Amino acid sequence: MNKDKIIVALDVAAAAEARQIVADLRGEVGAFKIGLQLFTAAGASFVRETVESGIKVFLDLKFHDIPNTAARASVEAARLGVWMFNVHALGGAEMMRATIENVREVCERENLIQPKIIGVTVLTSANRETLREVGIAAEPDEQVLRLAQLAAKCGLHGVVASPREIKMIRANVGEKNFLIVTPGIRNDAETKKDGRKTKDERRNKLETSDDQKRVMSAKEAIAAGADYLVIGRPILQSADRISAVRKILREVETA
Ligand code: C5P
Repeated sequence: MNKDKIIVALDVAAAAEARQIVADLRGEVGAFKIGLQLFTAAGASFVRETVESGIKVFLDLKFHDIPNTAARASVEAARLGVWMFNVHALGGAEMMRATIENVREVCERENLIQPKIIGVTVLTSANRETLREVGIAAEPDEQVLRLAQLAAKCGLHGVVASPREIKMIRANVGEKNFLIVTPGIRNDAETKKDGRKTKDERRNKLETSDDQKRVMSAKEAIAAGADYLVIGRPILQSADRISAVRKILREVETA
C-alpha cells in the first residue's frame, strides 16, 4: 500500500512534540524516522518507547566509524527493536560487512528481528561542489552508484539516495529486493516551479527546497521506483499535517 511507503521524519527537538506527531499520523503513514536531532535530545529511551507502542522506527543515525565501533553501535540499534537503520557507505566495505555480520549473529542468538540495514550514499543536500570541497572528483550520480554497488556487494538491504538516482540504481544494481529509500521530496508544484527558474534563482532555492539540492516530487519518486519516501519539512511545517500527508498520498496514487 502506498501509505506504507511514507516515512515521516521526526525532526523536532523534544519527545513531547514527536509523540504528538506520531499520535496524529500513525494511521496515515508506514513508519517514523528518528534522526540525529531527536535522538540527541530524547535518547534511546524514546526510541524504545516508540517501538514498544507498535510503531515502525527508522533510526537514522548514519553510523560512520571504524568497523568495530560501527558494528557495535549497530548491534545496539537492533537491540532497540528498530525496523530500519543506516550506516554511511563511505565508511567502506569492511565497516559494512562487520555491521551486517555482527547484527545477524546477535539477532540470531538473542532471537531478535533483523532490522533492515541501509547504506547512505551521497546526502541529498550535496551537489557537485560539495563533493569537490571534500576531494571527491566524481559527479554525484557516479558517486551514488559506486556506493550503492558497494553496499549491495557487502549485503546491505538497500540504500538512501536522492529520487533522481533511483532509475540509475535500479538499472545497475542487480540484487533482488534492493531497497531504495529517498529523502529530498518536495511538492509537485514547487518542483515544477523550480524547473522554470533561472540558474541563479535555483541556486537561491531556500524558499522551496530548504537545504535539499537533489529533489523530486513524491509522485515522481514513486513512479521512478522508490520503495520508501522520507518526508520531513513538507509535512512537519504544514499547519495541518494530516491534510499534508493525505495530499501527498493522493498525488502518489496517480503515479
Ligand atoms: O525535511 P526534509 O523532508 O528535507 O527531511 C529529510 C530527512 O531525511 C531529514 O531528516 C534528513 O536528515 C534525512 N536524510 C536526507 N538525506 C539523506 C539521508 C537522510 O535528507 N541522504
